[in-house]
Amino acid sequence: MILITGAAGKTGLALLRSLHKQGTQTRAFVRSKKQAKQVEEAGASEFVLGNLELENDLISAMRGAETVYFIPPNIHPKEDEIGKSAIVAALRAGVNSFVYHSVLYPQIEAMPHHWRKLRVEEALIQSSLNFTILQPANYMQNILAYRTGINQDGVWRLPYTPEARTSPVDLKDVADTATKVLLNSGHHGAIYPLAGPELLSSIEMLDQLGTVMKINASVERLGISKWEESALSAGLDMQRIDTLKSMFAYYDSHDFSGNSKVLEMLLGKPPTLFEAFLKREW
Ligand SMILES: NC(=O)c1ccc[n+]([C@@H]2O[C@H](COP(=O)([O-])OP(=O)(O)OC[C@H]3O[C@@H](n4cnc5c(N)ncnc54)[C@H](OP(=O)(O)O)[C@@H]3O)[C@@H](O)[C@H]2O)c1
Repeated sequence: MILITGAAGKTGLALLRSLHKQGTQTRAFVRSKKQAKQVEEAGASEFVLGNLELENDLISAMRGAETVYFIPPNIHPKEDEIGKSAIVAALRAGVNSFVYHSVLYPQIEAMPHHWRKLRVEEALIQSSLNFTILQPANYMQNILAYRTGINQDGVWRLPYTPEARTSPVDLKDVADTATKVLLNSGHHGAIYPLAGPELLSSIEMLDQLGTVMKINASVERLGISKWEESALSAGLDMQRIDTLKSMFAYYDSHDFSGNSKVLEMLLGKPPTLFEAFLKREW
């Protein structure tokens, strides 16, 4: 039995679908009945309701599981505490192995959500658990959050420079890699960076959208105070807003490029190109 946290999120659902295809028994950690329905549809064998911030909920959920796939909450101000508490819970529950869904370059202190993941990695390395750490780059799927604006207005509004280049990775490739790591032996003590095969700016992604899907759109730089206003009205708290602003500031002055060789080795095939992702999911 594999326990998956954050199971009803973007990452969790992709992983559940991938594991379901392999006939794997999974227990999804969710925090509402609505999420329970989503994980069941994605193929979870069972679900457990709980709050990631409560260690006792984590311990109860982990009892009887051989492996934990720990997906941390997104941009959570206490992500490091939650991760460390999950490690303690896994030890108390007698879990055999712990796979941690981290991020590419957790060493970057200027991005607090990366730095918090590094602290969890450190705690995991120092624990007596059998561990594996996956470090995915930004998902190609992130562009789908802007699909309506791009399709309707022909504009992709971004709060950082559209020239910043990243190595976007297909979340399906990440989920299939995680499945291989979970179902095969030999991965204990490994840290795997999982970057996509191309270095692309937002402008270059839109160029591909034009070529592949015949959708002509332009990128517009959104002023940070305008972005903050809309984030506040969408219900984001100031801690999360500050974390995201740090990430935008980082992208304004640095590329975020990785190497896809490790992903290719683990997947056993060339990773998905952005063009193929667009054809499949746009
Ligand atoms: N997106 C990327 O490009 C990317 C790339 C690399 C790594 N990552 C990392 O992957 C992780 C997951 O990202 P994601 O995009 O899958 O996020 P997501 O879609 O927001 O999923 C996170 C899930 O965790 C749940 N959750 C949050 N707080 C909880 C709590 N206290 N108790 C129980 N459940 C809780 C959320 O439920 P609610 O919806 O109810 O809050 C949601 O179902 C993040 O740590 C992120 O940094 C993301």
